[in-house]
Amino acid sequence: MTTQHRFRALLLEGIHPGAREALEAEGVEVTLLPSSPPKAELKAMVAEFDLLGIRSKTQITKEVLEGSNRLLGVGCFCIGTNQVDLVDANQRGIPVFNAPLSNTRSVAELMIAEIVVLARQLGDRSREVHEGKWNKNAKGCHEVRGKNLGIVGYGHIGRQVGVLAESMGMHVRFFDIASRLPMGNNRPAPNLDSLLAESDFVTLHVPETKETREMIGAREIGLMKKGAHLLNASRGTVVVISELAKALRSGHIGGAAIDVYPEEPDANGEGFQSELRNLPNVILSPHIGGSTMEAQEAIGKEVSIALAKFLSRGVTTASVNFPEVERLLTPGKHRILNVHRNVPGVLRDINRIVSESQANIAAQVLATDANIGYLVMDLDQDVSHEVRERISTLETSLKTRIVT
Ligand SMILES: NC(=O)c1ccc[n+]([C@@H]2O[C@H](COP(=O)([O-])OP(=O)(O)OC[C@H]3O[C@@H](n4cnc5c(N)ncnc54)[C@H](O)[C@@H]3O)[C@@H](O)[C@H]2O)c1
Repeated sequence: MTTQHRFRALLLEGIHPGAREALEAEGVEVTLLPSSPPKAELKAMVAEFDLLGIRSKTQITKEVLEGSNRLLGVGCFCIGTNQVDLVDANQRGIPVFNAPLSNTRSVAELMIAEIVVLARQLGDRSREVHEGKWNKNAKGCHEVRGKNLGIVGYGHIGRQVGVLAESMGMHVRFFDIASRLPMGNNRPAPNLDSLLAESDFVTLHVPETKETREMIGAREIGLMKKGAHLLNASRGTVVVISELAKALRSGHIGGAAIDVYPEEPDANGEGFQSELRNLPNVILSPHIGGSTMEAQEAIGKEVSIALAKFLSRGVTTASVNFPEVERLLTPGKHRILNVHRNVPGVLRDINRIVSESQANIAAQVLATDANIGYLVMDLDQDVSHEVRERISTLETSLKTRIVT
């Protein structure tokens, strides 16, 4: 990658060192900090960098982005992006990237472990032995081979759970609102009710939407087989916790594994409250479904690769707030990247500049959203710098740079 100046990246919140390596390999100078500075300091620091990497705690508000003229892109080294003002970043021409898939496998593996732990009441047995109580007992304990697993939400995680569960001899059915290609011998269920009624284990892998909010309440739990198990590592709002607690106390539900809650503490420490605490055969974990070293490393790589591709080629396909462009740089040409306000006449003005410079356009892609247009244009090297200079002075231009 040849660049106009050495790009500088600020990575906050102890992002995995793999991210630093990936960016340095692209010639980016990286500053890695273990935490996030206070807001005023953060604002001043952001102004000095081309790239910013954060995890979930750093709030990138409108105020922080003010004065961030140099900033080209933001990487959220996590799944969620609601800590960033995505609209404001978009309107400033700053794409935001995340890592939606890097911890998929970690969640799927935890589900498999929990299915076995629930089937064997292992959580309770382990606690008893820790307390000095010997309770060797097979009552209510089962193999998972031959049991029915119902997966609600057959997306990235749900599918992997299905494949892994099948390899242990489980019969897998899934329900999804979208049409999904079954993996292996997994079979689709015609509707949620029938899936609930036939499953020995029900595992939830849906996103948080209006439709999935409280989708598992008293009625749905009532449809489940007596003694069946419920697992939720999707979003806390999907299950009505009070109804689940009631069904666990009555014995209608034989066990549950819950990783996510309607309200979760902001920080580690004492004081977590839930009606599910201390109920029999209930595994409670602190939203750690995706928390593995492998996932952290994969997130570090996924986001830094997306940032590097954006720096070197202007690729925005992995961005959550930007029009998508993925196109290889035409060999022997320079690429101009221009983000502009999405108003009529911009392309006309840009093409006039190109034509006055007698430049030959080898490739041109324009992608737009409601606020901005993102133009990627490959053209002759001898005029590219002059064309970039003139385009950047257009009143509609937000950011214009060149990659070679
Ligand atoms: N516990 C953790 O640490 C952890 C880690 C990663 C992801 N998650 C959560 O896991 C969930 C699934 O993640 P993913 O990457 O598999 O998402 P995904 O988008 O790949 O899959 C979600 C699937 O749910 C389906 N769906 C949406 N609404 C539905 C509905 N009403 N009924 C049935 N199906 C519906 C979608 O069509 C899609 O196939 C998300 O909520 C995510 O936030 C949790």
